[in-house]
Amino acid sequence: MKALKERILQDGKCFEGGILKVDNFINHQMDPILMKSMAVEFVRRFASTDINKVMTIEASGIAPAIMVGYLLELPVVFAKKKKPSTMENMLVTSVYSFTKDRSYEVCVSSDYLCKGDKVLFIDDFLANGNAAKGVIDLVKQAGAELVGMGFLIEKAFQHGGDYLREQGIHVESLAIIESLDNCEIKMKE
Ligand code: G4P
Ligand code: NA
Ligand code: NA
Repeated sequence: MKALKERILQDGKCFEGGILKVDNFINHQMDPILMKSMAVEFVRRFASTDINKVMTIEASGIAPAIMVGYLLELPVVFAKKKKPSTMENMLVTSVYSFTKDRSYEVCVSSDYLCKGDKVLFIDDFLANGNAAKGVIDLVKQAGAELVGMGFLIEKAFQHGGDYLREQGIHVESLAIIESLDNCEIKMKE
């Protein structure tokens, strides 16, 4: 997606260890106009997919997910990183964080991720795909169906996208970063 790629080149910053900082328009300050355009693009790319629910993980996935849910007029559920004591019918999975080198649990209630749901998962970054693997497990536990996964930015050099596509999952990424070597942003296309 042209507008996103241009914005990444304009405002994205490279950090040690293959990290792309996009705090200016996605992860800290947010640009709702660009966020809306990205959601429109997801709606276009998943137009032929039968979806009844949008899902994400807190925190950074919520903004793009709610934009998509708004356009599709569908509910949006987010997996939580802290288990609320009041959550009923909790489904839990463990996610390994590459950047933090430790695992954490994410949870969602089966009251909102339901059997038979056709789920479109939306998130900001696809890196190693560990968060995505956790989502796949939660969807499976719920007896729901994962019909697609949309990411704003995919870091191709970390291969989470390869794994998901090998599983036969319909993956759409709006900007694909091939390399961040020498702090130079190399984008696909
Ligand atoms: P993985 O899920 O693909 O395996 O990713 P990893 O464990 O490496 O990433 C953990 C967190 O870091 C995730 O956010 C992910 O979105 C984010 N992340 C991964 N690569 C980058 C990057 O290059 N730049 C930025 N800005 N973030 C990256 P999270 O910890 O779940 O946090 P939240 O921001 O959603 O709350
Ligand atoms: Na995220
Ligand atoms: Na993040």
